[in-house]
Amino acid sequence: MSPARIMIVEDDRIVARDIREQLARTGHSVSGITSRGEAAVELALNTQPDLVLMDIRLEGDVDGIDAATQIRIKCQIPVVFLTAYADDETVRRAGKAEPFGYLLKPFEDLQLRTVIEMALYKHSAERKLRESERRYEATLSSIGDGVIATDERGRVTFLNPSAEIMTGWDKKDAIGMPLGSIYQVTDVNRRPAQQTSIARALASSLSCQTADQAILISRDGREIPIDEKCAPIIGDAGSVSGAVLVLSDTSERRRAASILQAAQANLARMSRVTTMGQLTASIAHEVNQPLMAVVMNAEACLKWMDGAHKDVDEAKAAAMRAISEGHRAAKIIERIRAMARNTPVAFEPLDINEMIEGILSVVRLEFRHQEIALDIDLQPLPLRVMGDRIQLQQVMLNLLSNAADAINASESPDRRASVKSKREASGAVCVTVDDSGVGIAPDIAGKIFDPFFTTKPSGIGMGLSICRDIIESHGGGLWLEAQFPQGTRCRFSIPELQA
Ligand SMILES: Nc1ncnc2c1ncn2[C@@H]1O[C@H](COP(=O)(O)OP(=O)(O)OP(=O)(O)O)[C@@H](O)[C@H]1O
Ligand SMILES: [Mg+2]
Repeated sequence: MSPARIMIVEDDRIVARDIREQLARTGHSVSGITSRGEAAVELALNTQPDLVLMDIRLEGDVDGIDAATQIRIKCQIPVVFLTAYADDETVRRAGKAEPFGYLLKPFEDLQLRTVIEMALYKHSAERKLRESERRYEATLSSIGDGVIATDERGRVTFLNPSAEIMTGWDKKDAIGMPLGSIYQVTDVNRRPAQQTSIARALASSLSCQTADQAILISRDGREIPIDEKCAPIIGDAGSVSGAVLVLSDTSERRRAASILQAAQANLARMSRVTTMGQLTASIAHEVNQPLMAVVMNAEACLKWMDGAHKDVDEAKAAAMRAISEGHRAAKIIERIRAMARNTPVAFEPLDINEMIEGILSVVRLEFRHQEIALDIDLQPLPLRVMGDRIQLQQVMLNLLSNAADAINASESPDRRASVKSKREASGAVCVTVDDSGVGIAPDIAGKIFDPFFTTKPSGIGMGLSICRDIIESHGGGLWLEAQFPQGTRCRFSIPELQA
């Protein structure tokens, strides 16, 4: 034990001198001596000893017990009482001053040394504990997550400032309350939670975490989406002595997720419009065909109404054909407008084959112009999935335009692409788009799904990244693989809609 500076408060001068000599023998030094309680507090404040040896009976109005209480409050210096007698009342009063030990006069050197060592050790341990508590308190007060602690019966023992804000409860009102009175949670469907995570942790001694997002209903009725984590506090004997609940407010995260979703939808639409822009020639042709048919049928109708071969039935039939061709043109325009429109994503039951037919009517002619043979092999069954038609058509459009680009970049006279649909045994609907193009070099295979990765002079590099986002939001997957001897296979699958 290192030597300590010790202050003596003793009204008997001879005893005081003896103690000083005893202290010198035990290796400690004396920082000051006084015989009066009033002076003791001031001397302790001024000289800051490591320990005070305090006689209980002193000269003057302030006895040793009062002086020790003030020293504890004002300077947190440990006090050891010295006394020649110990009646019950004195011991009771002395206990309230929280002394670090007693010495019954007269005492031996060994007793003095032991009591001083014990007192200094206990005081240092208490100081470390207080520091550690302050550190935890400061940490818990400054973090953004709410922290609530309870005892083993689920009564609140601690609430940090973030938990006060989230629950709307003041710490002073909440302490001692059953947790359920200050902390009310529901699930996302506003059903009260079956069992709070604290109750679960207390009952099972295991940490737990809310699987689904919970909603905290604050004291003033605010609804805050939260994630909960809870851990039991295990005592030295291994039993649960309480639990700690940590709450994270997830409103910001949710807002950010919905902003991100909106941005992704905008990006997808822009990319769709850009790709559609490259198809204007074939779209114009696609619309032009029924318009020409309208004109021809209207002319035929006029012919059947007039002159020597007048035939009302034929004229009617021609007029009906003109009307149906007019509707066909309108449908094509509507499909194209739907692709360009900023419609919110809408999942509905749909047939993958119908979705594919719809997009093929727009791209088929483009492939013919570019002299690429397009094989279509759709499984002759309704392949029902839950999905957004426009988004899935955008995936097909991106994959087909990548296929056409790859074929145009190849020198090979073999210019083929194919589209297949199939129900898989696993309960998924699978679509493949194959091409006989240049293929994907192994050194770029890991990057093709990266946003803005492109090997084309006028490419944006968003096509595949958007396709993958769309397919994943449908609960499916999208893969690209090399084909033998040349070309690429793009394949995606989406869970089939169960009847
Ligand atoms: N079928 C394919 N055959 C060969 N390479 C392909 C094929 N599909 C994609 N790639 C490669 O992946 C890259 C990224 O494709 P992605 O569709 O994301 O962007 P892009 O086609 O370059 O541009 P855009 O944003 O206009 O679609 C392409 O630049 C190309 O190198
Ligand atoms: Mg592309």
